[in-house]
Amino acid sequence: MKFFLDTADLGDINWAAQAGLIDGITTNPSLLAKVAGNRDPRDVLQEICAIVDGPVSAEVVALEADAMVAEGEELARLADNIVVKIPMLGDGLIATRRLVEQDHRVNVTLCFNSMQCLLAAKAGATYVSPFIGRLDDISHEGMEVIRETRIIFDNYGFETEILTASIRHPRHVVEAALVGSDVATFPTAVLKRLLTH
Ligand code: E4P
Repeated sequence: MKFFLDTADLGDINWAAQAGLIDGITTNPSLLAKVAGNRDPRDVLQEICAIVDGPVSAEVVALEADAMVAEGEELARLADNIVVKIPMLGDGLIATRRLVEQDHRVNVTLCFNSMQCLLAAKAGATYVSPFIGRLDDISHEGMEVIRETRIIFDNYGFETEILTASIRHPRHVVEAALVGSDVATFPTAVLKRLLTH
């Protein structure tokens, strides 16, 4: 299972990359804003992409298909290892299909059940990101989404990778690995807890 770090903190990314602990990065606009301060968040993204030898997810903020595609194209121009992160919405699936047709890689985020993951895979997503911690928060069994999605993707031969997101603790990482998630993304605090577990 691949490990992605869910952060835009350049110090943490440098440390984890040097130690060979991570295979990629996921960011979102609030993580980038926290690090960027007065700088352009796109400059921070470019710095991250230069440090990490692997995919770096960068999320669009637009909610309408044409605007998502335009923003996704702009993000993809920042570096070769950018993966455009698109929210799971009807317009998001249209944007996903169009970006994939242009050979961009797309991470469909904010997935909360296995059927949303299947829809994203059918649209051509490179990654789907089910949010397991947020499901656990509302008394659902988040890991069940990963389990179902693994079976469905294997049944039909989808190559879309399952990127388990919204991970809160080491046990989530263990369970994601046991049910066959392709990737787990977690904050630096969870990576440090894995090291000393
Ligand atoms: C990753 O892509 C997500 O942005 C992240 O895992 C969300 O985590 P949270 O539910 O703890 O905010």
